[in-house]
Amino acid sequence: MTAAGPLTIDERKRAAALAALPLIQEGMQLGLGTGSTVAHLLEGIAERGLDVAGVPTSEATEARCRQLGIRLLQPSDTERLDLAIDGADQLDHALTATKGGGGALLREKVVAAMSDRFVVIATSDKLVDRLGDSFPLPIEVVPFATAPVARRLRDRGYEVELRTAGEGPVVVTDNGNHLLDARVAGGIEDPAVEELWITALPGVVECGLFVDLVDQALLADQRGRVTSLEPDGR
Ligand code: 5RP
Repeated sequence: MTAAGPLTIDERKRAAALAALPLIQEGMQLGLGTGSTVAHLLEGIAERGLDVAGVPTSEATEARCRQLGIRLLQPSDTERLDLAIDGADQLDHALTATKGGGGALLREKVVAAMSDRFVVIATSDKLVDRLGDSFPLPIEVVPFATAPVARRLRDRGYEVELRTAGEGPVVVTDNGNHLLDARVAGGIEDPAVEELWITALPGVVECGLFVDLVDQALLADQRGRVTSLEPDGR
């Protein structure tokens, strides 16, 4: 809290991002997420001159790393990454996350899955009881399958929107695909079941449910205090 009142959302994102810096050791191979929270992390890495290399999860992150002089890796350069750090759209109390608000969920999930440890940095208001209600679940779909996948999701009870850039054109991901944003009233009851059901639909490339992937969440509150959460039993 400042004299002027609570921190802004961006200041809170920065607080969460900076809290992740002590987890990074010299020489580590990192997974580098995407979004406005990760932007603060990248600046922190560059400001501290940390000698690390990272697999970027989007073209935007790759471009920012080049500007900041952070060494880049491809997924094919290494068997495992030491640590991946990324934002999230929402998290539940089991630390299942939804991701893809920035459109990078596919590469983000690939990178999280190849990392020994996956840490989410976010503001504490993203912690919710149920995912997929107040913020939609993004689903990446090959363009040929957009309409049939949207129909199947609607039949299952989702409200579905094809992502566009405001009133503008349809958003195309870094992988050349479309994004369907799916919401369900009351939220997703069983994220693990839903992830399997959605990703089994022909034409779905990946969905933004990150189940059993998050090892730690660093969540910044309105005063900039950061709470660390870890999932029970893992
Ligand atoms: C991008 C993501 C982002 O991590 C998520 O949208 C959170 O973004 P921000 O840090 O800007 O709030 O999943 O695909």
